[in-house]
Amino acid sequence: MIVYGGSNSIELTSKISAISGFSKGDVEIKTFPDGEIYVRILSDVCGKEAVLVQSALDNNALVESLLLLDALRDSGAKKIHAVFPYLVYMRQDKKFMEGEALSAKTVLSLLNEKSDYLTLVNAHFLDTGGVHVFHGMEINNLDALPLIAKYFAGKLGNPVFVAPDEGAREVVGRAAEKTGCEFDYLEKNRINGEEVEIKPKDLNVEGRAVVILDDMISTGGTMIEASRALRSQGAKTINLGCVHGVFSKGTEIFNKVCDSIVCTDTLPQRESLVSVTDLIVESLKE
Ligand code: R5P
Repeated sequence: MIVYGGSNSIELTSKISAISGFSKGDVEIKTFPDGEIYVRILSDVCGKEAVLVQSALDNNALVESLLLLDALRDSGAKKIHAVFPYLVYMRQDKKFMEGEALSAKTVLSLLNEKSDYLTLVNAHFLDTGGVHVFHGMEINNLDALPLIAKYFAGKLGNPVFVAPDEGAREVVGRAAEKTGCEFDYLEKNRINGEEVEIKPKDLNVEGRAVVILDDMISTGGTMIEASRALRSQGAKTINLGCVHGVFSKGTEIFNKVCDSIVCTDTLPQRESLVSVTDLIVESLKE
């Protein structure tokens, strides 16, 4: 097996190659002045199994991935494993209004057509790890949230894990369960026409170290609202954890609201203190 990295996953690809023992393939990737992307497979892949690792954070990275997958196929790769530690457009898997694009289906169909195996890490619309069939496509979804939960449990002793909303309840609950720590989720209750109270459904967090977990932090709005609510309930420390640290508004916005913030290296960030390397290597070896 040869592992090739897209431009957003160079470091992660090197780690995967080092730990798995699979050789690392060379690629050339450049952008023309008008924005067009050029890719070329440099290491011979003819008749071999290829792995492409690419965190597709935006439209450019997505196009780069499509070009790399086609180039691998055209260069004679026997099988192609497409591994997307992060993949854009995974939020819209359903139509909420007539006429909307099912963006998750559109993007996954393109990637599925150009690869033999498709692996994602905490795809936003999937709540559990394992193989899922989505519009006829098989997607292997790896759940990295337990890695973040274990990191915090090791650091903080006996924190209480909190999901910031009901949507994250299942995936965060499962991650917390693996640490043996307590778990709750935030619930919004309308007090009157103007006031909404946000507080943990069952637990009292007063004086406790709290870890708010979610699959991703994008603008940070969800985490900031949850942090303020838990602080006002008397939490001793507020720690934020996620798999995908998108941080589209930077991380300075969290300075005054939390004590620590940790994500995985699906997207390389200063806060990437937990690696998904072993999770991906185990999955590839299976
Ligand atoms: C919500 O459905 C998700 O689980 C996250 O809470 C959300 O995507 C995070 O977005 P933001 O950081 O922009 O609030």
